[in-house]
Amino acid sequence: MADAKIYTASTTAPVNIAVIKYWGKRDTKLNLPTNSSLSVTLSQDDLRTHTTAACSSQFSADSLILNGEPQDVSGARQQACFRELRSLRAALEAADPSLPKLSTLPLKIVSENNFPTAAGLASSAAGFAALVRAIADLYQLPQSPTELSRIARQGSGSACRSLFGGYVSWEQGEAANGSDSLALEVAPASHWPQMRAAILVVSAAKKGVSSTSGMQATVATSALFPHRANVVVPERMVQMKQAIRDRDFETFADLTMRDSNQFHAVCLDTSPPIFYMNDVSRAAIRVVEEINRLAGKRVAAYTFDAGPNAVVYYLDENEDLVLGSLKGGLKGVPGWRASVTAEGVQGLDQGLLE
Ligand code: ADP
Ligand code: DP6
Ligand code: CO
Repeated sequence: MADAKIYTASTTAPVNIAVIKYWGKRDTKLNLPTNSSLSVTLSQDDLRTHTTAACSSQFSADSLILNGEPQDVSGARQQACFRELRSLRAALEAADPSLPKLSTLPLKIVSENNFPTAAGLASSAAGFAALVRAIADLYQLPQSPTELSRIARQGSGSACRSLFGGYVSWEQGEAANGSDSLALEVAPASHWPQMRAAILVVSAAKKGVSSTSGMQATVATSALFPHRANVVVPERMVQMKQAIRDRDFETFADLTMRDSNQFHAVCLDTSPPIFYMNDVSRAAIRVVEEINRLAGKRVAAYTFDAGPNAVVYYLDENEDLVLGSLKGGLKGVPGWRASVTAEGVQGLDQGLLE
């Protein structure tokens, strides 16, 4: 009789918000970027993905339910993750024939984001990091976070950085097969634990242009883009790593704001132009510039992903000033507060339903 057990594993994954942005692919199949990027992984109290992966001969086909809605899993990104993880499991099964043959069973993934999906708050990052780790745990794979980051990258580029907590880089790599396009920990959260982020939800609506298609349009049409990818970002990566090593918030803030602005400038330079920020986003920029002017130094740094929502980084010693000014200057904009966290994606429980 066929084994009808249901094997399950659950995970929870944090979002990461880049301070040096990934925008542009040199290989769209493997999600290999045109430039390296760097992010801060945020605590999971308010923003996190929870994912359960299951496999069983009782399921008829691979499936993914996101926030209660069935999703198409025939896309290349989901298929790449499933294929890579299955092949690692198949290798374990070949080496040890006593292991259950999970690699051939249909997968059922159930996931929930407790924050807006596809709104420029890194849902694809937390989402694919959680998906990859859940299946890796289901399959009891021994791979390290860096090795899993290579797989998560193929789901969504930014997802590779959510495998780690703290300050994380995604090194663009050189290999045509992507073997060296991986996430690395630049510094653990404990190195600079005072980092905080205010997340301002300007709009929870789904963005009009997905990150995937937006960056492809930029690479294809922006004349400014090659300068950003080839000249500006490589220098900024070096400077940002040094600023983090030195716990130099003024430099961290300067680079963060400049990089966000340049990313949105190449979006504007795309044909047709892409507008991710709106009037409220620009008001948030003005409030942060004013906070810094009044403080006489940079104590707050805004950054915007592919959406209108602002993330403002600051140090805990300036929390009252920064949050008070944001509240006063941006009336009615709801928000959360997060800190840099030690925890990347984490396995929760694993189970077996007979
Ligand atoms: P965001 O700015 O939120 O990252 P993207 O345009 O990059 O937006 O990606 C949004 C897409 O990521 C969703 O349409 C969905 O395909 C995928 N995604 C988001 N959350 C999850 C999740 N929890 N599990 C699997 N895929 C997810
Ligand atoms: C602006 O990782 O969502 O947030 O690889 O096509 O899934 P795909 O794109 P995605 O792009 C993120 C873009 C960004 C900057 C960043 O997170 O580095
Ligand atoms: Co995304």
